Amino acid sequence: SNTRSRLVMGNWKMHGNLAQNATLLAGLCAAPRSASGALLAVCVPFPYLAQAAEALKGTTISWGAQDISAQAQGAFTGEVSGSMLSDFGCRWALVGHSERRSLHGETDQLVADKAQAALASGITPVVCVGESLAERDAGQAVAVITRQLAPILALGADAVKKMVVAYEPVWAIGTGRTASPEQAQEVHAAIRAALAAAGAGNIQILYGGSVKASNAASLFAMPDIDGALVGGASLVAEDFVAIAA
Ligand code: G3P
Repeated sequence: SNTRSRLVMGNWKMHGNLAQNATLLAGLCAAPRSASGALLAVCVPFPYLAQAAEALKGTTISWGAQDISAQAQGAFTGEVSGSMLSDFGCRWALVGHSERRSLHGETDQLVADKAQAALASGITPVVCVGESLAERDAGQAVAVITRQLAPILALGADAVKKMVVAYEPVWAIGTGRTASPEQAQEVHAAIRAALAAAGAGNIQILYGGSVKASNAASLFAMPDIDGALVGGASLVAEDFVAIAA
């Protein structure tokens, strides 16, 4: 147990439309505040950020983007900058989600550049790290995460203190195969130690990968798991809210 507040963040990925989002957001707004005091957040596709902002206005539920450009402005077709996001109140930006790393070739350094760009616009980066199944089987999980975090930690304690880290083992994403609480805690503790050595040991570390209501409580019982980053189960209001219950 610890003094960090609990954060349950949804990552809608490339799902939804105006009508479905309206139903989902209304369901989140109507849900009772969680007894655990967990805060809810949603990371939605760019075209629907304004819809989320409008629907969640005046609630405790915050919203963010799933990516952010490392660049401030200029000839970067298709990119969305931090200042564009902060222009209408964006709170969070995922950076380095494994799908961005694997499908879009994002490097550890680019992810750190994106985290820095988010901070420059007053947006909290949620830095996603995680090993593949082959890397885990080779005993390399912590080594991979250490490598992924290195350029983040090089940004310095003042920067890292303003971030959130999400540990998402690639083999647990969308597979229904969640890491056991002990497996997750082992990596969270290693992340915490690396953060502490860099002077930022008390930031929130979320777990992601097939989180649902039935496994959330045992994950949250672990000393270094401060919340969850939720994909599939964030698309139905009752399922998502139940994770934060
Ligand atoms: O970012 C959250 C995600 O990658 C986990 O997805 O569907 O396994 O909860 P899911």
